[in-house]
Amino acid sequence: MSKPEIQTRVVHAAFVAGAVDSLQLPPPTVVEVAFAGRSNVGKSSLLNTLMQRKGLVRTSNTPGCTRQLNVFEVRCADGLNLNFVDLPGYGWAKRSKAEKSQWQGMIEGYLRRRAGLRAVAVLVDVRRGVEEEERQLVDFLRGPREASGAIEIILVATKVDKVGAAGKKPALEVVRAKAGVKPIGFSAVTGDGYEELWARIRWAVLGK
Ligand code: GTP
Ligand code: MG
Repeated sequence: MSKPEIQTRVVHAAFVAGAVDSLQLPPPTVVEVAFAGRSNVGKSSLLNTLMQRKGLVRTSNTPGCTRQLNVFEVRCADGLNLNFVDLPGYGWAKRSKAEKSQWQGMIEGYLRRRAGLRAVAVLVDVRRGVEEEERQLVDFLRGPREASGAIEIILVATKVDKVGAAGKKPALEVVRAKAGVKPIGFSAVTGDGYEELWARIRWAVLGK
């Protein structure tokens, strides 16, 4: 699998702030896109790829690596300015009930209240697809918000390199059939899906 030619060029990407409560984050002065999904699905890795910055976002093989809401500012060569928000992963079994509910409160509070939030990329492992947690998340995102503005939901199937070039199409089809929407296949290892995801993000925040 060869790395696709990169067209969307990121000229600036930097960590802005992290907080466990969305009210402690700096006010959103630009549109924001958040990345949600179960622990270890590859949210932080995807963000490094998307921002073209190796190691800007901390990643780990141990679930529960990202423990707060982390905001990054991104500027593209054509002047597009936006924030990316790396959310802590959910669904990690080795957590107490209290920790799980605090986690959920942090993520849901952000999603419900954050002004400027225009799109949420919901990440699923291409080999697992959409499960109960993702259905709940999508229902939540379609529900009422305190901040104004509709949220575009972008389904991303991660780690497509794991199923091989021949396995990618059938695996994505299984995810699509179960989810009812077509996912974007993505790999932080090969860069597969980079341009397609950027195109969806642009469309979500700019309408083009
Ligand atoms: P939490 O912060 O715990 O919620 O996890 P996360 O969703 O941010 O996952 P992270 O990006 O830290 O990646 C988890 C593990 O999966 C790491 O070991 C990554 O190297 C690996 N990984 C992430 N993306 C890919 C991918 O596209 N392909 C492969 N093969 N491995 C990946
Ligand atoms: Mg993470």
